[in-house]
Amino acid sequence: MVRIAPQRVSVADPDIIKHVLGSHTYRKTPSYDMPEGIEANAFSTRSPEISTQRRRQIGPAFSHRNLADMQDKIFAATVLSLQEKLDAKLAEAADGKGYAMVNIYSWFSLIALDTIGILAFGHHFHALKNDAHELVPLLNRMRVLNYIASENLVQLLAGVDTTSSGLTWTLLLLLHNPHILRRVVSEVRSEFPPGHVISFSDCRQQLPYLAAVITESLRIMPPAPGILPRLAPADGVRLGGCFLPAGTWICCAIGALHMNPSVFPQPSVFDPERFLGEKKSPNMLAFSTGVRACIGKNLALVELHVVLSNLLLRYDVRMAKSESGKEWQDAESDVLAGKVPDIPRKTHMTMNPTQPERDCLVVLSHAQS
Ligand code: HEM
Repeated sequence: MVRIAPQRVSVADPDIIKHVLGSHTYRKTPSYDMPEGIEANAFSTRSPEISTQRRRQIGPAFSHRNLADMQDKIFAATVLSLQEKLDAKLAEAADGKGYAMVNIYSWFSLIALDTIGILAFGHHFHALKNDAHELVPLLNRMRVLNYIASENLVQLLAGVDTTSSGLTWTLLLLLHNPHILRRVVSEVRSEFPPGHVISFSDCRQQLPYLAAVITESLRIMPPAPGILPRLAPADGVRLGGCFLPAGTWICCAIGALHMNPSVFPQPSVFDPERFLGEKKSPNMLAFSTGVRACIGKNLALVELHVVLSNLLLRYDVRMAKSESGKEWQDAESDVLAGKVPDIPRKTHMTMNPTQPERDCLVVLSHAQS
């Protein structure tokens, strides 16, 4: 535990974090309040009663059972629209090149937006199909802005950037670690024939290495690495040997926890083996934990698994050269160490690449083997 301001501490200890996030004793700080004029929602509310009520109302929409019922729609927004767009682009490029260059961060953002469109608004935005990058003009055009309740808004805010960040960093980590990419591609292609559309339950039963890759990616590049601040209760509290007076901000630093070497040895090495087989991940808290844990975790995991597995089954993927001409895919000897790409990123709630148009350009072609 580190004091980071007169009345604030930051914690990277898994037991303290799980204790603080585990109950309503430690409430969210006022920093979660929505701007004036926008009603509190499941994310922003500081009231345990409202939180419990909203989670009860919204939670079932993200249960595995409901997501299984929605699978066809989720597929339409993700896997199928990605394939349609990519196949068209590859057909256009059939001038002997047979490949397409794509800003994958942008495409993943549009896929995540289309998914939330279907689930939260009951409407397919076709954002990927139409290259609709600007959310507000898009919603304006669709004349739905007046109907956006605070709860829908939070699903857009909480569910789009996080999921696209997770998809992007996982693919970039794979592309910067060819030995890991080869292993996951070989797992996917040995388990499923070309043309098969891989479902989430296929992934869960047959792709353990992909699951470990995704978990490790969420550990090393958590899409929402934020400080998750909670208030010390009215009588103060003793934690980690320190007394914290009432109102102290206890910041549950997920990003720091994931880099804590006593929890994850050699934390800056991208190593999916950490989560392979029976190895559980109780301290991988990318989705937070406890009473205010992520409501959309199941949906995000479905998107991560089905998008990546189907992409790797159907297409060969490699990094494009950056504008500076640097070969991102370095010599094999460099990358066997589980390298995290040195890509500039910014964190404002979510952690995203600063220059995706430069650093997230990937080259795709139809799978050769
Ligand atoms: C990879 C994707 C995602 C990650 C890493 C992620 C991560 C998180 C984290 C760390 C929190 C806790 C934030 C805090 O306490 O300050 C959170 C809360 C939340 N997330 Fe997610 N999230 C993801 C996707 C989604 C999706 C797809 C949705 C909904 C469509 C969603 C909806 C929410 C909501 C409503 C909360 C607030 C829960 C509460 O306070 O009771 N998230 N998420």
